[in-house]
Amino acid sequence: MKIVFAEPAKTPAGCVAVFAIPERTLLGYGVALDKATQGALKRAMAASRFAGKKGQTLGVMAPNGLAADRVIIAGLGPAKEITRRSAEGVGGSILADANGTGQKSLSVLVDAPSGSALEAPELAARLALGLRLRSYRFDKYRTKEKPEQKPTVTSVTIYVPGAAAARRLYAGLQAVGDAVFLTRDLVSEPPNVLYPESLAKRARELSKLGLKVEVLGEAQMRRLGMNALLGVGQGSKRDSQMVVMRWDGGRRGEKPLAFIGKGVCFDTGGISLKPAQGMEDMKWDMAGSAAVIGIMHLLAARKARVNAVGLVGLVENMPSGEAQRPGDVVRSMSGQTVEVINTDAEGRLVLCDVMWYAQEKFDPRLMVEFSTLTGAIVVALGHERAGLFCNNDNLANQLRDAGSRVGEKLWRMPLGDGYDELIKSDIADMKNIGGREASSVTAAQFLKRFVQGDRPWAHVDIAGMAWSGKGDATTPKGATAFGVRLIDQFVSDHCEK
Ligand code: BES
Ligand code: MN
Ligand code: ZN
Repeated sequence: MKIVFAEPAKTPAGCVAVFAIPERTLLGYGVALDKATQGALKRAMAASRFAGKKGQTLGVMAPNGLAADRVIIAGLGPAKEITRRSAEGVGGSILADANGTGQKSLSVLVDAPSGSALEAPELAARLALGLRLRSYRFDKYRTKEKPEQKPTVTSVTIYVPGAAAARRLYAGLQAVGDAVFLTRDLVSEPPNVLYPESLAKRARELSKLGLKVEVLGEAQMRRLGMNALLGVGQGSKRDSQMVVMRWDGGRRGEKPLAFIGKGVCFDTGGISLKPAQGMEDMKWDMAGSAAVIGIMHLLAARKARVNAVGLVGLVENMPSGEAQRPGDVVRSMSGQTVEVINTDAEGRLVLCDVMWYAQEKFDPRLMVEFSTLTGAIVVALGHERAGLFCNNDNLANQLRDAGSRVGEKLWRMPLGDGYDELIKSDIADMKNIGGREASSVTAAQFLKRFVQGDRPWAHVDIAGMAWSGKGDATTPKGATAFGVRLIDQFVSDHCEK
């Protein structure tokens, strides 16, 4: 789908979108089209539930007096409540309406209502980003789709006074869309196509953007003592990998930020096998790593003035004659030993070695890690918020605020010594599960044991957020790329000079 910006001209043909705010107040272009149609738009609003609320749309087919086939009236909500994020949502809703009625070319006539914090060019750029994000589709494996089953909108023109400014703003947002699409693609790929080595290969392609990408195989990780990670992958025919991506856009010698991702390319549970029902979902147990790859892509593409390193641990958790057993004890890179009670609690075993490597090698000023770590976080928070576990109030607040600005919401969860007690082992330094109670917290306590000193560290459990069963205004159902925009916002708000 192509998106271009232009100065307002005479009313275009095809599908045309105009805007309204509550209560049923058309903005300038809407008023003009209403006049040209002798009041068809106002009559249509009055005859419907449309009130101009944020994200509402009302379609008017082939009104007399216009060349347009369809006019979409889109609600922006109250002028004072318009934000970048709300504008993106409105853009997404317009695209959904236009695709739903088979339109091919869409023209959006943008004017900003008085009292809006966004001026017309910025409103236009954010609408465009929302349109693009909503247009995502993973259809490379569909060979029999008829044209009428596909989304129809192929070109979008956004008419706005100050088109050049809008175009510039949107160019700056292009990298956001590219990174989100990359992450969604990786998460959507089936597990026979995307496995540790093939995912590492995809990450390697980031070197085109000026990132330094290094891939470590099993032999190298064995030399480093990463036995916790290797134990998870030992039942699989696929070799485990760790990918290290560096972006040095900041001052020389400045300590980097570290972003870490769980990359379990498929999680059968191992010998502690999961039930068949829904197991196919475990192809997206690598969503944390895909988010980190997207984040590194985005930082490099927009040349962020920061030093950052992204590290992902890539494994496949399979049962076999060589698989790890419940009861095995592994020695992690940190030297701490772990009794593996349940081979399905594998994410923490992968992450503990990647976190240790990150700290030994890069001495990062902070660490933020993303993982689809526990089913229990979905029970606690559903699909509304990811769980945030953090040893530093300042970092926790900054991440939470960044997330709420981009629509990736976090909810802070507790840590504490009482929870830590639950992972004591009789024969090793710790065990890898703490039992049924507070199991998202005990997973986080496990990870915390691999944080050196009081280095700021955050663990974001995205098990409920990586994939959406219903989608929203800017996310079709499927992979969400949760985390990519959150970190982009966090870095630009707090980490760039
Ligand atoms: N990848 C799963 C967690 C998960 C479950 C993510 C559902 C998304 C949806 C993780 O490796 C896992 O299996 N966790 C277990 C831990 C348990 C054995 C302590 C869980 O949550 O049941
Ligand atoms: Mn598991
Ligand atoms: Zn898992």
